[in-house]
Amino acid sequence: MQDTADTEEMLEVEIWRGAEDGALRTYRVPRQASQTVLDVVTWVQRNAEPALAYRFACRVGMCGSCAMQVNGKPRWTCRTHVAKVAESGKLRIEPLANLPKIKDLATDMAPFFEKWQDARGRHEPTRTRHEPMAPVSPESPARTAADAGIECINCAVCYAACDVVSWDESYLGPAALNRAWTLANDERDADSSSVLRAVSESGGCHSCHSHGSCVEHCPVGINPTAGIAGLKRMTLAALMRGEL
Ligand code: SF4
Ligand code: SF4
Ligand code: FES
Repeated sequence: MQDTADTEEMLEVEIWRGAEDGALRTYRVPRQASQTVLDVVTWVQRNAEPALAYRFACRVGMCGSCAMQVNGKPRWTCRTHVAKVAESGKLRIEPLANLPKIKDLATDMAPFFEKWQDARGRHEPTRTRHEPMAPVSPESPARTAADAGIECINCAVCYAACDVVSWDESYLGPAALNRAWTLANDERDADSSSVLRAVSESGGCHSCHSHGSCVEHCPVGINPTAGIAGLKRMTLAALMRGEL
C-alpha cells in the first residue's frame, strides 16, 4: 500500500502485477474530477510503479489498445470515468480476460488476431489495384448488412466478455465472426464461400449461444450476435444448396 497525503480523497486501487502467476497489489491514488481509469493506471506508473506494463495510444476511444478488466468487466479504460465505476472509491484493474497475461496489464493479443485469420478475415479482392474500384450500391441489402459491423476496431472487449471463448479455446469469438459477416456480405469479395466454410467448422458460428454479452460490452455499439445469427442462416442455406 502506498502512502500519500491524508488530506486528499483517495481511491483504493488493486492492479494485477506479473504474468499468469501474478497477483493483485493495492495502491492509493488521489481522486480527481473527470478522472478516467487510464488516468489512474498512468498515475500509478508515474508515481508508484515505473515498471508497470500497460497499453494505450490515442486516449480518445479510437485505437482500442487500452482495453482492460475494470471491476470485473472489459472496458476501454480511456473512456471509462472513475466516477461511473467506482462510487465506493474501490477499483480492481486487471488484464483483459480470455487472453494470456504477458506482464501486468498487457495481454498477448496473438490468439485474438489468429482467429481473424482462421475465420478468413482478410479481403480477397475481385479486381487488381490497376482496375477501377467496383461500385457497390449504398442501398443494397448486402451493403447495409456489412455496414452494421464495419466499424470494429479490434479492441477485443467483446472477446473478453464472451463466456463461450472462456471455456472453448477453439471458438472464433464475436469479433472474428463479425469480421467474417462483413466479408460474407461484401459484393467485392472474390471468395465469400471460403468465409462460410471457415465459420461453419467446429468452433465457428454455430458454437455461439446468442446470449449477447458481446453486444452489451462493445464500446462501438456493434452487434456481433446479429452478424453471427446471419452467418448461421447463410451457412445452413449454403449447406442445403450443397455448397459446403
Ligand atoms: S452472443 Fe455469441 S459471441 Fe456474443 S458473447 Fe454470447 S456466445 Fe459470445
Ligand atoms: S466488435 Fe466491438 S468490442 Fe468487439 S473487437 Fe470490435 S469494436 Fe471491440
Ligand atoms: S487509448 Fe485508444 S481507445 Fe483508449
